[in-house]
Parts: sequence; C-alpha cells; structure tokens
Amino acid sequence: MEGCVKKLLCLVGFVVLVSTIGGVESAGECGKSTTPDNEAYKLAPCASAAQDENASVSQSCCAQVKKIGQNPSCLCAVLLSNTAKMAGVNPQVAVTIPKRCNLANRPVGYKCGPYTLP
Ligand SMILES: *[C@@H]1O[C@H](CO)[C@@H](O)[C@H](O)[C@H]1NC(C)=O
Repeated sequence: MEGCVKKLLCLVGFVVLVSTIGGVESAGECGKSTTPDNEAYKLAPCASAAQDENASVSQSCCAQVKKIGQNPSCLCAVLLSNTAKMAGVNPQVAVTIPKRCNLANRPVGYKCGPYTLP
C-alpha cells in the first residue's frame, strides 16, 4: 500500500513537472499574462475560415487576428496550438486568414512553423 501511494505521488509529481515545463516552453510568445492556447479561444469566430480556404472571414475574426497579429510569433503559436488543432483548425488554411482579411500590416513571409504567411 505504501509503495502504491509513493508511486501515485511520483506519477502526480511527474505530471505536474511535465505540465510546468510545457507551460514554460510556450510562455512568452503571447506575453506573460496569457498563453497561445488561451488566445486560441479568441479566434472562435475564425473557426470556419480556419478549416475551409473558401469560407468567408467574418469581421470579428479579422479584428481578433489583427489584434493578435501585432505579435506574429504569438499569432503563429496560436494557429499551431493544441487548442486550435482540437478545434479543427487547419494551420495551412489558418495562415491565409490575415491575407483574406486584407490586413495591411500583416507580417508577410513570416514563418509559422512549416508554413509561411502569404
Ligand atoms: C475552394 O475553391 C477552389 C476553387 O473553386 C476549389 O478548387 C477548392 O476545392 C475549394 N476548397 C474547398 C476546401 O472547398
């Protein structure tokens, strides 16, 4: 029984450690007060546009992309985040959203992982 408790504690400690490291790893891209996964929820209005290259991009989506896009590394981290992935975002399609919004100051040519912002 004691061994079992110890094992459980080890497991819990391990999980906490891994999630802490994961958090540190992604910290910074979007500033100290938020994470890419948190920011991904703000792109909820972009859900359909991020899955279908022909879908029209809503004003509210563009407004959010414009805001997050002030920090391209944050935008990329958001588009490639697990949250976005789980929401069905296709990163290859998602990186075209700033262009489809006709954002004037978008970071053209910025590398988002394997993708390049058009
Ligand atoms: C988008 O439109 C193009 C041209 O009409 C078409 O070839 C493509 O298959 C469409 N993509 C999707 C995801 O519907």
